[in-house]
Amino acid sequence: MDTSELSFVRCPLCKGELVIVSNSNCADDLAEKHYQCVKCQQYYPIEKGVARFIEEKDIIKFSPRMNFFRNIYARIYSPATRLMFLPCGGENFARHEVLDRLEIAPGDAILETGIGHGDNLPYLKALYGNGLYVGLDNQQPMIDACRLNLKKWNLPAVLHLANAEELPYRDNFFDVVFHLGAFNLFRRKKQAMEEMIRVSKPGSLIVIADETEKATKLYGLILGKQEPVVLPLKMVPDSMLETRLEIIWKGYGYVLSFRKPLS
Ligand SMILES: C[S@@+](CC[C@H](N)C(=O)[O-])C[C@H]1O[C@@H](n2cnc3c(N)ncnc32)[C@H](O)[C@@H]1O
Ligand SMILES: [Zn+2]
Repeated sequence: MDTSELSFVRCPLCKGELVIVSNSNCADDLAEKHYQCVKCQQYYPIEKGVARFIEEKDIIKFSPRMNFFRNIYARIYSPATRLMFLPCGGENFARHEVLDRLEIAPGDAILETGIGHGDNLPYLKALYGNGLYVGLDNQQPMIDACRLNLKKWNLPAVLHLANAEELPYRDNFFDVVFHLGAFNLFRRKKQAMEEMIRVSKPGSLIVIADETEKATKLYGLILGKQEPVVLPLKMVPDSMLETRLEIIWKGYGYVLSFRKPLS
């Protein structure tokens, strides 16, 4: 299987094939090169090896005050997550409760939507061997921190700044597709799920985990009142197989899994 980045990236807008262009008419001076869609001609800048697939309309605009807090959060994300996992049985237990469900074989192509700081990679590296790990996130500070972590851990992965609701990948490519955390916050959850299904190989298992209402009530004591949680079981298309929703993390989380049919 060809796992070079160009073989599986696609235009998130029209799903057309992409080519690399070094000189573009795009006004992004920082980019060393660009992807260009052969169908709709859209440019996507590549900076420090990371392609940016998010359009202006996908970038949530925050107030300067909110931006300040988000930047701080991006820096303290890993220790903050460790703390939040404490009532769930601790980070190691909580991550294993989700990651142990993934059906990973050596050489597999894995996609993590919403990779954050990349904290799942050290748990999975031994399983996928020399396979391909692709992670995307829609926040630049998360991607930056993840890139530094991967360097520190000496773990290779392809990173993209992209929206999980409009995946920049070709159909039926990944052996394993999963999301851990913040699925509840997606604006278009059903579309995100359909995208995960589209890029998965037929026969593969898709796994989505996030917090339950019990967790948002607990964290709400610190973070303020949170949106009510709607478990996404009903969003799973009827055509999926083995659909299962389980409560995990000592009641603070759920894991939803289902299998894409072979045809
Ligand atoms: C709770 S963190 C989990 C990170 C990582 N999966 C982990 O297990 O540590 C959720 C991540 O999803 C990202 N995210 C949220 N909405 C997204 C979207 N629509 N597209 C891509 N990433 C998104 C956030 O920026 C954040 O980094
Ligand atoms: Zn296009």
